[in-house]
Amino acid sequence: MGLLEGKNVNLRVVEKEDLPLFAEWLNSPEVFGEYNPLRQVSKTEVEKDFEKGTIEITDFIIEKKDGNKIGFICHFVLLHPAGKILEIGYSLVPSERGKGYGTEAVKIMVDYLFLSRETMRIQACTDTRNLASQKVLEKAGFKKEGIMRQYLFMRGQQRDACLYSILREEWKEPKILTKP
Ligand SMILES: CC(C)(COP(=O)(O)OP(=O)(O)OC[C@H]1O[C@@H](n2cnc3c(N)ncnc32)[C@H](O)[C@@H]1OP(=O)(O)O)[C@@H](O)C(=O)NCCC(=O)NCCS
Repeated sequence: MGLLEGKNVNLRVVEKEDLPLFAEWLNSPEVFGEYNPLRQVSKTEVEKDFEKGTIEITDFIIEKKDGNKIGFICHFVLLHPAGKILEIGYSLVPSERGKGYGTEAVKIMVDYLFLSRETMRIQACTDTRNLASQKVLEKAGFKKEGIMRQYLFMRGQQRDACLYSILREEWKEPKILTKP
């Protein structure tokens, strides 16, 4: 039994055997959605990054209870002279959106990070037009801090992004991982 288990989805660190599917998702405009930057990356590069390993970014497969892989969620560190900033990102395959899985995955990730890291804050940023992502963050307890103007370069244009965060004191206690 894994640690990161919810009611409808589980999170599982990406394993070597997931890499072909993971690389396919990273290259797919459909999976990344219309509000994420486009990216093309070779399977070799994905494998190399995986072999190299880094503590700065960790990817998780989002799986349904029947083992079906429906997307991914990651946490990564942004380096700032004043300290490290912990941020999350996520995507679901189009056919599995709108069923509450994104919200549950984010809640599990927030529980996991506050239980396992000394951080006081987790942040996320999303295109101002990405209402689904903003709703997910708000349902998971994040607060909108403001707009970062022309923050993301997307499909040939600079786009404004909303910055969201949740503080440890707002999270208070695990919502899903209540028996780790
Ligand atoms: C963003 C994303 C992960 C949301 O996950 P999801 O599982 O579809 O979201 P949920 O089903 O948990 O929905 C959460 C809320 O958002 C609402 N919502 C879903 N799609 C929406 C849309 N297109 N516009 C407005 N609200 C929307 C839902 O109604 C729900 O609110 P409710 O519970 O009050 O009804 C998913 O849409 C996705 O993978 N998009 C493409 C990639 C992406 O944009 N990633 C985020 C980058 S920051």
